[in-house]
Amino acid sequence: MSHVEDETDNTRRDFLYYATAGAGVVTVGAAVWPLVNQMNPSADVQALSQIFVDTSGLEPGMQLTVNFLGKPVFIRRRTPEEIEAARADDGGRLVDNESRNPNKPGTDASDVNRTMDEEGEWLVMIGVCTHLGCVPLGNGAGDFNAWFCPCHGSHYDTAGRIRRGPAPENMHIPVAEFIDDTTIQLG
Ligand code: FES
Repeated sequence: MSHVEDETDNTRRDFLYYATAGAGVVTVGAAVWPLVNQMNPSADVQALSQIFVDTSGLEPGMQLTVNFLGKPVFIRRRTPEEIEAARADDGGRLVDNESRNPNKPGTDASDVNRTMDEEGEWLVMIGVCTHLGCVPLGNGAGDFNAWFCPCHGSHYDTAGRIRRGPAPENMHIPVAEFIDDTTIQLG
């Protein structure tokens, strides 16, 4: 398969998953309307602050982007090569030594502290560059074959850690957990 075909395929896959996730978000969004009536704001705020994402269609190397609290969240099922690259760089020069992971507060930026699972297959993070808030490009972009923010040239590695460029912090991780084998709860 040529590079162009491969890219096209990736784009289509991402779009399909985005569309699927988008439908889920729309469903959640529908719960906003009772807020207008001021009937039960606390329940509605609760509904908005949590969404559930079905990851059963994600193969290694695929990424799903969902809209959560107005921001893109990248849900990536990493390949063994991506995990290996991230862990090999644990001892390398990191710009930001914090995991930025509220699920593992106060931990360092080692790869295992950035991922959902000990094996490191699942990386979930807020897809916003920590420089000025652009959405980084994915699918092997940048000097670390992971994410690249073209706004001012920030390169992130396969753990979403900032490695080069003006961004000061690793991409942040949202509150998230697997509630069964395939469903991630955000928030
Ligand atoms: S917003 Fe990403 S590098 Fe400036």
